Amino acid sequence: MEQTLVLLKPDCMERRLAGRVITRIEDKGLIIVALKLMRVTPDLARRHYAEHVGKDFYPGLETFITSGPLVAMVVEGPEAIAVIRKMAGATNGRNAAPGTIRGDFSSSRQMNLVHASDSPESAEGEIGIFFAPEEILPHTPTIFPWLRAADE
Ligand code: CMP
Repeated sequence: MEQTLVLLKPDCMERRLAGRVITRIEDKGLIIVALKLMRVTPDLARRHYAEHVGKDFYPGLETFITSGPLVAMVVEGPEAIAVIRKMAGATNGRNAAPGTIRGDFSSSRQMNLVHASDSPESAEGEIGIFFAPEEILPHTPTIFPWLRAADE
């Protein structure tokens, strides 16, 4: 079982696409175990995007990610990190396959609607940046036996 951080970025909120993205996550059978609406500060942006600070696109990325409220979520499921990355599609919406979130809704490299952790190590670090342990509420929906076999 894995947990991953998913952000519905300010463009997703401005374009009123949050519900459609959340529906895809629910439809897939993944479990949302934490969720909040928040504004990313420049300090939080620098911690979350530490590997990009200093790159030529970072100032624009920081301006974008701090420009309005976003939804932060922790999503749980077997291989949740890879599953959500596949659902998000390639970073640049213009290259993302149809059927993916970015492939269906984005034509941009920066305004690509969602962020999803890319490895177990980044998921653990990113979840810790966005959520306190008590904000994460693992639970088993009653439909759970119909989402996957007991040994999956
Ligand atoms: P994300 O998955 O959140 O991870 C880093 C983000 O930086 C990425 O999505 C894009 O929004 C943005 N990004 C990555 N590469 C570039 C680039 N070359 N120019 C502008 N933005 C980029």
